[in-house]
Amino acid sequence: MGTLRNGFFWGNSVSSMQTEGAAHEGGKGKSVYDTYLAGSESSDWDVAIDEYHRYPEDIELMKDLGMNCYRFQISWSRVQPDGEGEFNQEGIQFYSDLVDKLLDAGIEPMVALYHFDMPLNLAEKYNGFISKKVVDLFYDFGKKMIDALGDRVTYWLTFNEQNLYSATPSFQSSGYLTGDKSLHDLYQISHNVMMAHAKVANYIHDNKHDLKIGGMEAYSEVYPATPNPKDAAAVRRFKEFGNNNLIRLFTEGKYSDEVVTFMKNNGMADILVDKELEELSHVRSDFFSFSYYATTTIDSTQIPTGTAPNYYVEYGGKKNPYLEENEWGWQIDPVGFENVLIDLFNRTNLPIFPIENGIGVRETWDGENTINDSYRIDYLRDHIQAVKNAVQKGADVIGYLGWGLIDIPSSAGNVDKRYGVVYVNRSNHDLKDLKRVPKQSYYWLQKAFKSNGETI
Ligand code: BG6
Repeated sequence: MGTLRNGFFWGNSVSSMQTEGAAHEGGKGKSVYDTYLAGSESSDWDVAIDEYHRYPEDIELMKDLGMNCYRFQISWSRVQPDGEGEFNQEGIQFYSDLVDKLLDAGIEPMVALYHFDMPLNLAEKYNGFISKKVVDLFYDFGKKMIDALGDRVTYWLTFNEQNLYSATPSFQSSGYLTGDKSLHDLYQISHNVMMAHAKVANYIHDNKHDLKIGGMEAYSEVYPATPNPKDAAAVRRFKEFGNNNLIRLFTEGKYSDEVVTFMKNNGMADILVDKELEELSHVRSDFFSFSYYATTTIDSTQIPTGTAPNYYVEYGGKKNPYLEENEWGWQIDPVGFENVLIDLFNRTNLPIFPIENGIGVRETWDGENTINDSYRIDYLRDHIQAVKNAVQKGADVIGYLGWGLIDIPSSAGNVDKRYGVVYVNRSNHDLKDLKRVPKQSYYWLQKAFKSNGETI
């Protein structure tokens, strides 16, 4: 018998804006992401990898790779251009067809409802998730999608990397365009996003008993930079206010007492409305999913006195001298991955599902030869081995999804930062032919997937 369970999920994970393109087609409205240009070296989001038109071809590749799970996102502005009012039937049909095609190929679809890209109208009109109106609108959108696809899609996620809504990236990704970015606003957004999750999760658990929904966090190991007890204390506090508070909300429907005390002591008690806490108390998760790429350390001496724990890594983040890194400074840590898998299982007692993992590297194709990406094979081997180790030590891990296994632009729109085992022939400013070209890692990963992780 192999290490991993039968039916273990192997696959790929993406967001809509980083794959679909067709930004002005099919009745899609504008999202905050569409209007956001990452910088002079980056592409825009108009074409991405043209998944909107090429998904049948890509599903063939996924099937050939041995995938049995694909996590994608429904772009809210594609199915409801303004995020309120009329739904766009053409957009809903696109996702329905995608789901059918995946199922025909033996690939389990997993749907995320929000990956940092609010319909522009909701950001401009209501300032995003700081508004309770947007919480209700998100629920309407989520319910509509679950009703439309729940006969074929079992696995659901609301927010990608939800803990990031309690840290700085929160503001743009929640559609907050105006305001002073106060601590109160940060906590209000984080609370509202949790309320939006709660409404959708409770809808599923109350009405759709065959469907599964779980929390999703960016969960990176964070180490004390030194044996200084203050570094260890800062790490513990940072985790409690980000990842662990949310884990308690996802699994028990309760805020961390430490976080509540902090909120009360810092003039934020008004955020904790009794009626909403009651709604939150019903939240449960069927699995716990997370993204994992790299790890960091905290040096408490760099953190100014009085800084909220949410910002500790921003101020105190420091390189780990024991780890290697990629060109973008992301430090590679498969040991941390094993540790996190076991820790999350011990903490939640839920099936654990790592749904994003990979390494971003600059690569070019000469138009002829297979790209030799041995560094990616090393990264994937070490991280899949970490999954096997965690399972051997008792963790219930139900799958492993790579990030962007068919190359996609990075979160900042940079096509040069590639995660794929399939090369997509385009650069930041030249679309070329968008041809899909398997790299050496493709053939390696195919063996790993098809042997259920035995051949790595
Ligand atoms: C995750 C995001 O945090 O990291 C993705 O969910 C993102 O959207 C991925 O692409 C990798 O980060 P980056 O910045 O290298 O693309």
